[in-house]
Amino acid sequence: MMIKHRSVAVALVLLQLLAVVQGQPFPNYHANFVDLEEQAAELKWWQTGAFYQIYPRSFKDSNGDGVGDLNGISERLSYLKELGITATWLSPIFTSPMADFGYDIANFTEIASIFGTMADFENLMKVAKQLNIKIILDFVPNHSSDECEWFKRSAAGDPEFKDFYVWHPGRMVNDTRHPPSNWISVFRGSAWQWHEGRQEYYLHQFVKKQPDLNYRNPKVREAMNNVLRFWLAKGVSGFRIDAVPHVFEMAPDSQNQYRDEPRNDWDNDPEDYGYLQHIYTVDQPETIDLVYSWRAVLDEFQRKNGGEERILMAETYSPIDIVMQYYGNATAEGAQLPFNFLLISELTNSSNAGEYASTVKKWLQHMPKGRTANWVLGNHDKPRVGSRLGSDRIDMLNILIATLPGASVTYQGEELGMTDVWISWKDTVDPSACNTNPSIYEQFSRDPERTPFQWSDATDAGFSNASKTWLPIGEDYRQINVNLEETQPLSHLNVYKQLWKLRKQAKTMQRGDTDVKALSGAVLGVKRYLKNDVTFVTVLNIYDGVETVNLQQSFSDLPAQLQVVLVTERSKVKVGDLINSTSVQLQPKDSLVLQSTSSYFAYATNGEIRHLPVLGIYLWLAQVALYLTTR
Ligand code: GLC
Repeated sequence: MMIKHRSVAVALVLLQLLAVVQGQPFPNYHANFVDLEEQAAELKWWQTGAFYQIYPRSFKDSNGDGVGDLNGISERLSYLKELGITATWLSPIFTSPMADFGYDIANFTEIASIFGTMADFENLMKVAKQLNIKIILDFVPNHSSDECEWFKRSAAGDPEFKDFYVWHPGRMVNDTRHPPSNWISVFRGSAWQWHEGRQEYYLHQFVKKQPDLNYRNPKVREAMNNVLRFWLAKGVSGFRIDAVPHVFEMAPDSQNQYRDEPRNDWDNDPEDYGYLQHIYTVDQPETIDLVYSWRAVLDEFQRKNGGEERILMAETYSPIDIVMQYYGNATAEGAQLPFNFLLISELTNSSNAGEYASTVKKWLQHMPKGRTANWVLGNHDKPRVGSRLGSDRIDMLNILIATLPGASVTYQGEELGMTDVWISWKDTVDPSACNTNPSIYEQFSRDPERTPFQWSDATDAGFSNASKTWLPIGEDYRQINVNLEETQPLSHLNVYKQLWKLRKQAKTMQRGDTDVKALSGAVLGVKRYLKNDVTFVTVLNIYDGVETVNLQQSFSDLPAQLQVVLVTERSKVKVGDLINSTSVQLQPKDSLVLQSTSSYFAYATNGEIRHLPVLGIYLWLAQVALYLTTR
């Protein structure tokens, strides 16, 4: 009898284990309730996308020349899968003399040999498809390289290409020729370059090896539309559009003259871009319509070929009212995701919770109804997030962008906590810095955020086996690298992975409403809620004191207790702990993600909550009953 009882008990325990394993992640607590309205509005793949920027020169070098390449990316794409990435945008991979490291394109439809071949690209597309990671390419419309065939033919006066670029004979003052206007290049000095062959100046808003294309010429528009079509046909899921605000400059007046731009009093360096107010060379109204016309090219491709939506992400640091126009208007669609750079441009190392809250709300409040937000923490042009806002705030910022609504963009290495690497003048290669001098170059150099990705503590941080990499490796690579961080449960990398796991499971994170508040000078709170579903609250302690906040006071409809779903290494509480929502204590620079608990029996593993089905509870009860009867 005893034995029989025991075997029944064992069978029940086994069954129960099975129930645990089968536990449903994040069930809808009102599973029978089907909201038809919600069902109808299916989210598109990019609307909650985790985007990841790869800077190909620095991601993975497969052939030992010290520069990353396409085969390196294909080899390591599974790493992005493990992170939970939806899509990756690659900085330019096209044929280029590399005067601006690929942003000076000599052939828009050819792969640069330093990165590989078209076959390597096709292989990358294949690998990406298998992993279900979408590939976004960099579309650089403002300029080509001066080594582009189009420019050479334009300079030679070939009638087909004569007006492909912005040419001008210059201003004659007392019989001396001067540039057509006082315009300054983003990378210093006059934006006009005299061309001996053509005996005219050409405009270059960036380095002189990047002549500006002339978008007042319909042939240029068509040529660039064809570039989009070419890559769409190769299967890419969209484009990041480079330097959007610069694409148009004012048209010359009836006397074929350009106007000078007025000065900025705060800048006394006549070579510096900040010396002038760029009222004639950036954000010209035609640019918005041009972006809409590129969207039309994508939509036309969609209509003809079907498949999932292809997207545009637009790079613009313009004033917010202009940025919002890139989304589209009542009659035309624009970029699905005009980059939100506010976390880069408005926050500093000393910003308080109120400033964080208003920066986040600024985007949400300006965004036209029905559009999708996005959050960019870093890119290859800006100091890394840890160097900008504090290396002890890296987890906090990753948690912030992953728990805000919409898409987010991570720059490679920022999931590991890579920070800027100091580069000597001798090793400096960025044209933006090389055009200056040894005493000021550090203010302009983008090399510090472009150093090779840190895979391991092996030679060259596992990036390459070359004796010299194109930029030096960060000195901290033995502590900050993928291999090591994979073994540390609360490394930046693991916190990052847990975030995307959580986000994928939680419907509220994907489509819930958002309430952002400064809970004190130091603590930022983000509440995400969705009717009939779990509520989440993210709390971030920006400063160095221990803080206690009352969430009930700031947010409505919160239960008395919340469960911890995600912590960082600074936290004292653990995943699964229940805490009172009237008194949430945070350690210095601590961040927590909390959720409302359910009536179900829930258990937590590394940021992932699983729920024991009701059956599990009956099994427990049956087991207790059996135990009692066999005593
Ligand atoms: C964009 C790119 C930058 C490049 C510039 C010119 O801002 O992000 O890297 O130098 O455009 O193409």
